[in-house]
Amino acid sequence: MFTRHHTHKFSAILVSLLLTTSIALLALSATPLPVADANAVADSNAAGTQIGVVLPIQAVRWVQDGIQISNTLSASGYTYQILFSQDITTTEKTNVETLIAQGIKALIICPVDSTAAAAAVEEARTAGVKVIAYDQLILNTAAVDYYITFDSISVGRAQGQYLVDKATGTGNPLYLYAGHPGDNNAFIFFEGAWNKLQPKIADDTFMIKNSSEAVALKNHATLTHDEEASIIGQIATNWDPNTARDLTQANLAAVTAADKGNVFILAPNDGTARAIGDVFAADPDVHSYVITGQDAEQASVQYIIDGKQTMTVFKDIRTLARDAAATAITYLQGGTPSSTTTYNNGTINVPSKPSAVVTVDKNNVKSALIDSGYYQLSDFTWPVISSVITSTGGGLTSTFDSTTYLFPSGAFTDTVLITHTVIFSSTSSSSLEGIGHSFDITGVYSGTGQAAQPTEPYTITVQYTDEQKGAVNESTFAFYYWDGSQWVKEPTSTVNVDSNTVTATPSHFSAWIVMGEIRRVYLPIIKR
Ligand code: BGC
Repeated sequence: MFTRHHTHKFSAILVSLLLTTSIALLALSATPLPVADANAVADSNAAGTQIGVVLPIQAVRWVQDGIQISNTLSASGYTYQILFSQDITTTEKTNVETLIAQGIKALIICPVDSTAAAAAVEEARTAGVKVIAYDQLILNTAAVDYYITFDSISVGRAQGQYLVDKATGTGNPLYLYAGHPGDNNAFIFFEGAWNKLQPKIADDTFMIKNSSEAVALKNHATLTHDEEASIIGQIATNWDPNTARDLTQANLAAVTAADKGNVFILAPNDGTARAIGDVFAADPDVHSYVITGQDAEQASVQYIIDGKQTMTVFKDIRTLARDAAATAITYLQGGTPSSTTTYNNGTINVPSKPSAVVTVDKNNVKSALIDSGYYQLSDFTWPVISSVITSTGGGLTSTFDSTTYLFPSGAFTDTVLITHTVIFSSTSSSSLEGIGHSFDITGVYSGTGQAAQPTEPYTITVQYTDEQKGAVNESTFAFYYWDGSQWVKEPTSTVNVDSNTVTATPSHFSAWIVMGEIRRVYLPIIKR
């Protein structure tokens, strides 16, 4: 019996919250019947179930998938049941058999183990059930009709590219980590990352510190499955944060201070990234680290906001769940779902239409994850940065939103505590648009506790990214302050399009936002 451990210690509370939510949702949206199996969380009508869903375990990632699939299926009016396999392949097989006995016509299944699941889906096929592999492909069997997936090679490539983009010079220490060797995705993610990292390992931009197998293969642009397995064998986290933490501690204990410094870390997903990152953060010989992730889990988004994780790869589970439900319904209606590509599972080419993934870091966390409705602003604690400025002046930098303040000598008559708070404000104007920089600056005299305003102009500089420019006319970027009823343009504002900076020298504190004029398209007048 094979088990794949997912001990998400950071997420235990969230999991139970999500489960409560999912049960509540189902109670509202479907006809709840007594739960037939201890692992079931959803049961729209057990006798005569049309669609069966089998997910590996109630970890954050899979509970979210379950909720999304259940939302789509409830709305469709088809009967369905979702079962979790407790990460145990034999439980998974029992779950599939239970659903077959209930008469399902389509099975959406994310396997515990990509190979072991073949036997279960073969039973389903024999019973005339259409099999939809969900997120992880089922290997070495002809009994898979469709594969619902994200573009997993792109996940690994996005992680690898991110590290490459952040590295300068040579000899940068690189620590590699992978998922579970029993999960086919772990190989695809690593392959994608290797595609991007290998040229930069071969030219010594990176020096691998924790895998002798990877070092031995550094000149191999593409790896065979066996070569990849030999590396993954040394760096597997089994998708388990505890395993990831122990392995990282062992890795750091085995190297010298010279192998640390400013490090680069390929972490395969968010759960392991937080565990690995925490170990690096605690090592006094590590000065800085860039670390990847995957899944845009809420806890990791907070880590990104707090500067403890550098990036994640966002896989919008809503899309995957919707596609899976739609595919099952197409089969139930006797149709054939459309596909854009196929994945070879060792026996057949399985049709698929992979969904795109998005790289998320602190620069686009709000636009990618909050503006898209995936999370709420209130799900996170946003940065508040403070500094004590004396009458001789000083500065304050908020790295999260790349904002810098400089206060000249004499800006304050006495010592002041300055606080910069990231806010998210709407622009309420049809011709102006914010570019993702809005904040509040306040001051309090340390001695009296009275509110402070500067008596001399100070300098605020915001650095924006190319991505943040959007469709707004860059040369019109300027600071606007809130005067109590509207945003007013700050007259001292200037923009430098070469250095991507907006600077102003105001002499008052307020809420600020950087906005630009929305580009207008003028169509030519055609004379007849
Ligand atoms: C999924 C990832 C997930 C990992 C651990 C992979 O197969 O694609 O999104 O982080 O399993 O559960």
